[in-house]
Amino acid sequence: MPKEYVYKTAKNFDWMQYGEDVSVQKKIANAFVKRFDMFRKQGRGLYIYSDTKGSGKTMLACCIVNEVLKEFDIPVKFISMPEYIELVKDKSEGAKAKIKSVLEAVLLIVDDIGATTEDKEWISNAIFRLVNRRHENLLPTIYTSNVPIEKLKTDDRIVSRIYEDSVPVIMPEVSIRRKKADKYRSEFLRQILEEKEPAASGQALPDSDK
Ligand SMILES: Nc1ncnc2c1ncn2[C@@H]1O[C@H](COP(=O)(O)OP(=O)(O)OP(=O)(O)O)[C@@H](O)[C@H]1O
Ligand SMILES: [Mg+2]
Repeated sequence: MPKEYVYKTAKNFDWMQYGEDVSVQKKIANAFVKRFDMFRKQGRGLYIYSDTKGSGKTMLACCIVNEVLKEFDIPVKFISMPEYIELVKDKSEGAKAKIKSVLEAVLLIVDDIGATTEDKEWISNAIFRLVNRRHENLLPTIYTSNVPIEKLKTDDRIVSRIYEDSVPVIMPEVSIRRKKADKYRSEFLRQILEEKEPAASGQALPDSDK
C-alpha cells in the first residue's frame, strides 16, 4: 500500500469534500466494511471508478481495507496494475512469490486496472490470470480505475468476470488532489507574503538596488 495511505481510515476520508450527493457511494463503502463476511462469502468486491484523476479512488480503497483489517485478521495485498505487469515480466523467484501472494490474498486492491495502454497478448493473459484466479476462488478484489468497467480495453473474458464480481462505486468527477493542492499553495503563498521579518538563517533580498 502506498505509504501515505497505510494509516488512513474512515475518519480521514472526507465525503464532504465533493460538494455533491455521495450517499450511495458512502453506503456501498460502509456496507463493504460492515458486511465484509457476506462480500467475502460471495467473492464480491468493488470497482471504484472516476474519469477524473485525484478523486480519491485509491485513498477510498485503502481506507476501506484498513477498516476491514480492524475487524478481520486476514492477509491483504495492494498492487497497481503497472506494478503487476512488471512482476509478471520479472522471472525471478522473488517475483513469483509476490505474484502468488497477490493471487491468493484474501482481500486485494488492484489499483489502476485501466492504466495499461499496451495491447499485448501476454499482458492481457496476465491480467486474465489474475482476475480469473480471484473469480474462481471467490476472493474479493477492490479495483480502482479511470475507465468504466465495460470500456476496459482488454479481453471480454476479463471484463465479464470483473462485472460479475464487483459492485460499482462511481466517484464524483472532482479532483480532491487538485483542491487540496490549490488550498496548500494559497496558504503557503499567504504565509510568505505576510512574513515581515527575514527568515532566521537566510538574508532577505534588498528591496531595491541603491
Ligand atoms: N475524500 C477525500 N478525503 C480526503 N482527502 C482526499 C479525498 N479524496 C482524495 N483526497 C486527497 O487527494 C489525494 C489523491 O487521492 P487519490 O490518490 O485517492 O486519487 P485517485 O482518484 O486514486 O487518483 P488517480 O486517478 O490519479 O489514481 C489523496 O492523497 C488525498 O490527499
Ligand atoms: Mg489512484
